[in-house]
Amino acid sequence: MSESIQSLVPSHGEGDVNTSSLRAQWQRQHLNQATHEMLKRDAAVFMHQSVSTPCLSAVRRVHGIFIEDVSGRTYMDFHGNNVHHIGYQHPRLIQAIKDQLDSLSFAPRRFTCEPAVALAEKLTSLAPGNLNRILLAPSGNDAIEMALAYARAATGRHKTISFWDAYHGAGFGARSLGGGSHVPQWSNWPAPARQ
Ligand SMILES: Cc1ncc(COP(=O)(O)O)c(C=O)c1O
Repeated sequence: MSESIQSLVPSHGEGDVNTSSLRAQWQRQHLNQATHEMLKRDAAVFMHQSVSTPCLSAVRRVHGIFIEDVSGRTYMDFHGNNVHHIGYQHPRLIQAIKDQLDSLSFAPRRFTCEPAVALAEKLTSLAPGNLNRILLAPSGNDAIEMALAYARAATGRHKTISFWDAYHGAGFGARSLGGGSHVPQWSNWPAPARQ
């Protein structure tokens, strides 16, 4: 394996990376041919990614706390990225998303709109103390990166404390927070002056 390819192999120190013989044996025993073929196609076109590589199986349907795979097995999902709170395919959420797509699918942030303000008001009414403004982030990683930037700006300090080997997202800042030294001392130069 070439050095550049080897560097793409997921690190066993980071999250749910399972390349053990037991995982392979389980897959041989329990997954059907269609699943093996999909896993092969997936591995051929997706870059290896710590925390989720290699895929365990292929999903066919999700509902409530359940994941059904292509081989017909049903799993209870105790992790549930982004759907921990209400379960997969909650009918009220599906209906609300459909209604919003039909009425106002996107608003550039230079324009405000009723649903955005209503959501912000709801969240600030639930938050404790003087937490009375919000900023929406497109992902967990972005939320962490933004929080790091704001904490620095608010405190004037630059060090953070975190648990070693924790996962906070795939960006430079979030990964560094989990213990990796991904952010070297960058040289920053002033932007060129406008003529
Ligand atoms: C604890 C934790 N923090 C941060 C993240 C990153 O979230 P996202 O994938 O939305 O960037 C994840 C994602 O799995 C997570 O589990």
